[in-house]
Amino acid sequence: MARELSPLFSVLMVLGFILVRILVVAGQPQVPCYFIYGDSLVDNGNNNGLRTTAKANYPPYGIDFPQGVTGRFTNNRTMADTIGQLLGFRNFIPPYATVTDQQISTGVNYGSGGAGIRDETGRNLGDRISLNRQLLNHVAIISRLTLMQRNTTFTNAYLKKCIYIVNMGSNDYINNYLMPDNYPTSRIYNTDRFAEVLARQYSQQLKTLYKLGARKVAVFGVGLIGCTPAEIAMFDTEGKPCVDSINNAVKLFNDRLKPVVDEINNDNSDARFTFINITSISAPQEGVSLPNVPCCPVREDGQCVPNSIPCPDRDLSVFFDGFHTTDIANSLFATRSYNALSPMDASPYDISRLAQL
Ligand SMILES: *[C@@H]1O[C@H](CO)[C@@H](O)[C@H](O)[C@H]1NC(C)=O
Ligand SMILES: *[C@@H]1O[C@H](CO)[C@@H](O)[C@H](O)[C@H]1NC(C)=O
Ligand SMILES: *[C@@H]1O[C@H](CO)[C@@H](O)[C@H](O)[C@H]1NC(C)=O
Repeated sequence: MARELSPLFSVLMVLGFILVRILVVAGQPQVPCYFIYGDSLVDNGNNNGLRTTAKANYPPYGIDFPQGVTGRFTNNRTMADTIGQLLGFRNFIPPYATVTDQQISTGVNYGSGGAGIRDETGRNLGDRISLNRQLLNHVAIISRLTLMQRNTTFTNAYLKKCIYIVNMGSNDYINNYLMPDNYPTSRIYNTDRFAEVLARQYSQQLKTLYKLGARKVAVFGVGLIGCTPAEIAMFDTEGKPCVDSINNAVKLFNDRLKPVVDEINNDNSDARFTFINITSISAPQEGVSLPNVPCCPVREDGQCVPNSIPCPDRDLSVFFDGFHTTDIANSLFATRSYNALSPMDASPYDISRLAQL
């Protein structure tokens, strides 16, 4: 027992409890469409039909979600879901795997658990839809949309009005760089070089997204994965609350990501890309501390044991399983990326501002 409190995720203070319970905005959404790219932090069912252990289509995942089990890696909403609600969408954006023609005009969720910036990332878990493939899926969606809307000029203008969020990179560490038995990256690159190579590849992918018509894009940095219960169980924390070496490696990547976003904005006068600093958004607040232990009993790979009984007070838990945060934490991150509380949270724009531009 007696696991230490993580200062970073010892979050979930007063603030979280006040703001969350979402204020569903009545009427029209603030933008006509919302597209989501990323990994298990946003996946809402794309992995259900894939051959992989990175899927969450079994209880207790979804225990608090009105539709129950969907493939979301949390008890209720993902961060992407709550951002959609804050933008005024009445329905959650459907997963690419099952989206119908009628649904695509409000956006698509391409997220896939285990996926990364690098194509090979997550191979140890099985199939996944890498960021490169998510971009190809977007090309297919644009074709479908163009056929439906029957007016290319209209479709091109339409795509520029959408909000796009991209949440990638965690697996390039968790399920690649930090697994030397499965991947050679940590022998080829030191942490600094890896951050550089990863940021360069990501930069190309974000530019591709721009070329596909995206203008309002929120790019999320990688969170402090050295503070996740699964990584703490796997690596030596040397008496600290978190695995600092992992967080330091991730910081090298995040520090390179912000200049990538700035460069895209500088090179393209109509680009409105923004960097969301998840480290800042999940920073510890004075007051309440919560232990960084998973709410559900977890398997060796950090996911919930199927059909296990999770903790009863899920609003008092930051982590639902060994890697993924609960609805309350996700809602807090979504709310702070939507309405920044500090200039450090989002730069140059938070998502509410992005919607208005
Ligand atoms: C779960 O999310 C729904 C919105 O889909 C929300 O109304 C509900 O309050 C949430 N429940 C919990 C227990 O977090
Ligand atoms: C196509 O869309 C553009 C932009 O909305 C509009 O100005 C134009 O009239 C449309 N063309 C046709 C043939 O409907
Ligand atoms: C993110 O925010 C933290 C403060 O919480 C700061 O130390 C860090 O430099 C920021 N990262 C970037 C890339 O701006």
